[in-house]
Amino acid sequence: MEKVFIKDLSKHLDKTVTIRGWIYNFRSSGKIGFLQVRDGSGFCQAITNNPDAIKKVTLETSAIFTGKVSKHPKKEEYELQVSDLKILQAPADYPIGKKEHGPDFLLQNRHLWLRSPKQWAIQKVRHTICYATYEWMDKNGFTRIDAPILTPAACEGTTTLFEVPYFDLGKAYLSQSGQLYLEAAIFGHGRVYDFGPVFRAEKSKTRRHLTEFWMMDAEAAFVEHDENLKLQENLVCFIVERVLVRNKRELEILERDTRPLEKIKPPFYRLTHAEVIKKIRELGGDMKADEDLGGDEETLLSKAFDKPVFVEKYPARVKAFYMKRDPKNSDLALCADLIAPEGYGEIIGGSQREEEIDILLKRLEEHNLPRAAFEWYLDLRKYGSVPHSGFGYGLERLTAWLCGIEHIRETIPFPRMIYRMTP
Ligand code: 4AD
Ligand code: MG
Repeated sequence: MEKVFIKDLSKHLDKTVTIRGWIYNFRSSGKIGFLQVRDGSGFCQAITNNPDAIKKVTLETSAIFTGKVSKHPKKEEYELQVSDLKILQAPADYPIGKKEHGPDFLLQNRHLWLRSPKQWAIQKVRHTICYATYEWMDKNGFTRIDAPILTPAACEGTTTLFEVPYFDLGKAYLSQSGQLYLEAAIFGHGRVYDFGPVFRAEKSKTRRHLTEFWMMDAEAAFVEHDENLKLQENLVCFIVERVLVRNKRELEILERDTRPLEKIKPPFYRLTHAEVIKKIRELGGDMKADEDLGGDEETLLSKAFDKPVFVEKYPARVKAFYMKRDPKNSDLALCADLIAPEGYGEIIGGSQREEEIDILLKRLEEHNLPRAAFEWYLDLRKYGSVPHSGFGYGLERLTAWLCGIEHIRETIPFPRMIYRMTP
């Protein structure tokens, strides 16, 4: 019998085919069993009148189903009228049931929880975001360059570094962002990006922080602040559009209201940090003039706009050492954080980079960073230095926003948080 995937059942109407998967739910009305089957590609109902099968099936039974494909009388769904059912394993006590479980229980059972329809849908959206990113990058002339994970120095501040013993060389640090290495790569490739896990020993226990998460960093030669924002805007709009087209079913499963996502078109809003302080105060928050945006402020701002907002030109002293200063006001950095709407907060951090060696040396000193570890980075300002900019998005933050998920821990298969490292 032809083996097919559930997503392709519509192409086999009235034919007899075989599907292979798991029963994630079932009910029976007397002699007929209605089995809800999942095979990774989708979900369908398999209908059987075999009394033996009806007796045996349990939650998460793995099985091979053969039967004729029919269409649901009312819905755009396809069903299998089972003629043969081969059970591979019928577990006695699958721990995740129909009743409500608390987040601790579910996280403890993450290896099983991942199979639930909502968790399935989240990972499919995450996949689309990655795929759309590769597509957009390729179309826009960016080459993927893989940055190392074991690194000799900090990229984003020394307070969130994970240390690893490293043979006779002493210590290594897990990468916080591939950015500095991408800056090296622009001299060969012009426009580059990376995509991989990064690590932050974040002391904050919030719905937006993980200790291991995935970042896409992009870096481009001859791109200055304004163009940097345009690139981000176009990339984000492309991703949102792709998710809306490719993940209709998944967004339905997640009960995501897609109307706010349909509004995500350029241009995004742009506010300076100074304007944001005023806005936050108007919104009832409290924020000092030389502070970074905290979680509460991000939420306030994020709920006040129907499209993403770039917060530009932060006071330079709250931002990273590599950011170029605003030529109009040297206290400010030529940077922007992109704040997603609907309360999701920061999804992208980016800036124009300082390209002059003398200024960069001064910044390293101001930030108490060891010059020796950055000699290679300083070299980049000696041999054909050019204006350049870049940005990095957090994959889990983006996924949480598009899926409408409150806590980012559900958007990564196996979340790492201060208090959780298992499974
Ligand atoms: O704003 P960040 O720290 O920027 C950088 O690392 C730059 N080097 C990027 C660049 O310019 N190439 O981090 C970028 C994004 C944030 O906007 C946020 O979406 C996400 O990474 N992020 C986190 N996501 C989950 N957990 C955490 N602890 C995160 N910290 C940052
Ligand atoms: Mg940031």
